[in-house]
Amino acid sequence: MKPSVLFVCLGNICRSPAAEGIFRRMCADAGVLETLVIDSAGTSAFHEGDPADRRMRHFASERGYELLHRARHFVAEDFRRFDLILTMDESNYANVLALDVDGTGASQVRKMVSFCRVHDVPVVPDPYYEGDDGFRLVLDILEDACTELLAFMRETYKI
Ligand code: 4NP
Repeated sequence: MKPSVLFVCLGNICRSPAAEGIFRRMCADAGVLETLVIDSAGTSAFHEGDPADRRMRHFASERGYELLHRARHFVAEDFRRFDLILTMDESNYANVLALDVDGTGASQVRKMVSFCRVHDVPVVPDPYYEGDDGFRLVLDILEDACTELLAFMRETYKI
């Protein structure tokens, strides 16, 4: 089984698809994309099937990231499918752990910001009702975290 990472936010149209797109590109550039399973999901099903938010796609494309994901709802089965589940804020973290019926979540679920090495922030803030700078800040934080996440995956899974 390939090592697997799932990024989780609320709607799965802003932060987690951006994290997925950034991490996919970093893994591709490092030549390890095919050795991993990478996906994203939302704790709400409100945007199920939607492409990433137009604003997030715009600011991501400015940095060369293409966001192709369609939103899907996080389900309890994801605990069986993914080694690592990375949440964006406290609410996502609590909502994901609430579905951890097997009790394996403590070792699988981590806060995305715990991988940051440059940004000292408590959460990846929800940009949905913010302006352009909110989206750019999210991308800055996610690039920081994904850089360390890739190093962590390489070290942990010897990829
Ligand atoms: P995300 O952002 O959790 O980063 O995808 C949001 C997307 C949609 C909503 C809130 C946050 N919403 O309220 O619809």
